[in-house]
Amino acid sequence: MESSYFCTAGGGTEIFLADELKFISARHSGDLQSERCSSSQLQVEGKVLFTFSGHPAELLNLKTAERVFVQLCYKPHWIKQNGKDSSIMTALQNTLEAITPQDWDNAKHTWNFVNPPKKRSARFQNNQKSSEKLCNKRQKTENDDVTFRVSLKCPREYNNRRVSSMVGGCITRQTGWKVDLRKPLFEVYIQLNNNHLIIGIPLTKIPLSDRPYIETIGLRSTVAWIMAHKAQIQAGDTVLDPMCGVGTILIEAANSWKSAKFSPQN
Ligand SMILES: C[S@@+](CC[C@H](N)C(=O)[O-])C[C@H]1O[C@@H](n2cnc3c(N)ncnc32)[C@H](O)[C@@H]1O
Repeated sequence: MESSYFCTAGGGTEIFLADELKFISARHSGDLQSERCSSSQLQVEGKVLFTFSGHPAELLNLKTAERVFVQLCYKPHWIKQNGKDSSIMTALQNTLEAITPQDWDNAKHTWNFVNPPKKRSARFQNNQKSSEKLCNKRQKTENDDVTFRVSLKCPREYNNRRVSSMVGGCITRQTGWKVDLRKPLFEVYIQLNNNHLIIGIPLTKIPLSDRPYIETIGLRSTVAWIMAHKAQIQAGDTVLDPMCGVGTILIEAANSWKSAKFSPQN
C-alpha cells in the first residue's frame, strides 16, 4: 500500500535525499533502467515529502536522511493564510480535526511495521484476561495502550506549551490515544513556520543519521556519505582521505562500498 512520508535533511542536501528516494522507489518497482518510479516527491527547505509503496523498514536504510516520518498533514503557506493572532489556535484546531481517526490509525499502522507491537500485545492480552473477570469495567481496547507526546516546533511568538497541549487534546479526542510526556510510545511531530505546517510520526526514536558504527562525532554522517557517493567508488578501488580527521567519510564509505579498500593515508 502506498503511504505518505517525509524525511528531514541538512540544509542544501535535500537534492541528494530526493535522488536517493528516487533510487529506492525505482528499485522497489523494478524500474531502475528507465528511472521511472511510482512515487511522487516534493522538496522543501530541510525536507523531502514523498509517497512510497514498499515496506516502511526499507526507508531506515536511507543514508542522506536525518529522520523519517509517516506524514499526516502538509499545508504550504499555512501561517500566511491563517494570520498570526489568536485565531491561529482555532485554525490549527480545525486543521487537526480535518485529520480523520482513520488517517491517524493508518499512520500508526505504518509505524507498527517498524515497531512491532509484540511486547505491547502480550501486556494487552494479560490486561484483557483480568478485565474479563471485572465485568463492570469497560472492555480494554488497543488504543488504551497507545501513548504519545507532541513535539512542536513553532515560531517564538507562539506559546509552545499552550499550543502543544491543545494539539495533544485534539489528538486524544480523535484517536483515544493518551498523552504521556515521560515515556510515550511515539511522538507526534508538528512543525509550524513561515513556509508550512507539517505533521508526522517519526518511524524511529533515534535519528537515522545517528550511525551505530560511528563512535566519534565529526563531520555530519549524511554529508560524509554524500561525499563518498560523489567519489563514484568502484569495486577494487583504494580510497584515501589524506585529511581524514576522525575518519567519518572513510567509515561511511567503508560501510556502503564494501568491495573497495580504505586507507587514511597512502
Ligand atoms: C573537516 S576535518 C576532515 C573530516 C574528515 N575528512 C572526516 O571524514 O571526518 C579536516 C581535517 O583536515 C586536517 N587538515 C587541515 N589542514 C591540513 C593540512 N594543511 N595538512 C594536513 N591536514 C590538514 C585537520 O587536521 C582535520 O583533521
